[in-house]
Amino acid sequence: MSDLTTAPPSIPVGTGLSMFDPLFLGIDEYGHPVYLPLIYRNILIGGEPGAGKSSLLNTIVGHAALCADVDLVLIDGKQVELGLWKDCADVFVGPDLDHAIDTLERLQEVMDNRYAYLLSQRRQKIHQGDDFDPILLAIDELAFFSATVGTKTEQEYFSALNRDIASRGRAVGIIDASATQRPSSDIIPTSLRFLFAWRFAGRCVDESSSDVVLGRGWAARGFSAASIDPDNRGEGLLLAHGGIPARVKGAYMSNDDIIRVADYAAWTRRTRRTTTTTTAAELGAVA
Ligand SMILES: Nc1ncnc2c1ncn2[C@@H]1O[C@H](COP(=O)(O)OP(=O)(O)OP(=O)(O)O)[C@@H](O)[C@H]1O
Ligand SMILES: [Mg+2]
Repeated sequence: MSDLTTAPPSIPVGTGLSMFDPLFLGIDEYGHPVYLPLIYRNILIGGEPGAGKSSLLNTIVGHAALCADVDLVLIDGKQVELGLWKDCADVFVGPDLDHAIDTLERLQEVMDNRYAYLLSQRRQKIHQGDDFDPILLAIDELAFFSATVGTKTEQEYFSALNRDIASRGRAVGIIDASATQRPSSDIIPTSLRFLFAWRFAGRCVDESSSDVVLGRGWAARGFSAASIDPDNRGEGLLLAHGGIPARVKGAYMSNDDIIRVADYAAWTRRTRRTTTTTTAAELGAVA
């Protein structure tokens, strides 16, 4: 029988967040909070080195890690940007193009299976609380995989897989968040950009790079990420399909913040992960 005279031991609980909730991205130029609904959508993040792309991706992955209903597939050419979330992820891919391709092939198969299931149920898309949960595919340093390592054929295959997942994954809950340092038309062709309902342009070196992220013509209309102060890292222009770009300063998590949130999230997710790399005891979460 429990002793009701003493306080119960502290038990880590989940946050109650869902990937169907909009995530807190940062503040706009009036200081108002900016919330981003990501379900059924993808986000493309571009900008010069140091613009704040990985930090923004960390904010997105951080929200997802705290959600009880999403699996994480993390691909990071630099390893250390998304690597701190490794224990929260179902798959973590470092600078390994073969592993990245294998992972996207698996995700493509999951996507096809989910569509087959939906069809068998005479349904068109997943809902909150459905039989299967959303999956966040976060890719940092997209150009590393699509234009730097491997052969041209492998790079093109990686890009084709990513494009297919971005274009067909949304209705079955696969969200593609891709970031790249090289916003040029070979890395982000128009056909790829169109698949991203959300586009975030951190500071860019010139107006044409800004247009590669946001879409042609925005710089001429006065919306250029080249005008962002280089010292104002984390600020960018956020564009939604059909909207106009808005200045947003992304929320920022320090290295210590990420470790703290990631360890907590790994604990709350320990029963849903299909792979294990860290035990609860290692996380220091149990007495
Ligand atoms: N929202 C933010 N608020 C405050 N500082 C930020 C913010 N985002 C980024 N920074 C600062 O800018 C630095 C670089 O950010 P980050 O690593 O995200 O850039 P990046 O665009 O990913 O660069 P790279 O292309 O080299 O990978 C961070 O270490 C941090 O000091
Ligand atoms: Mg980065």
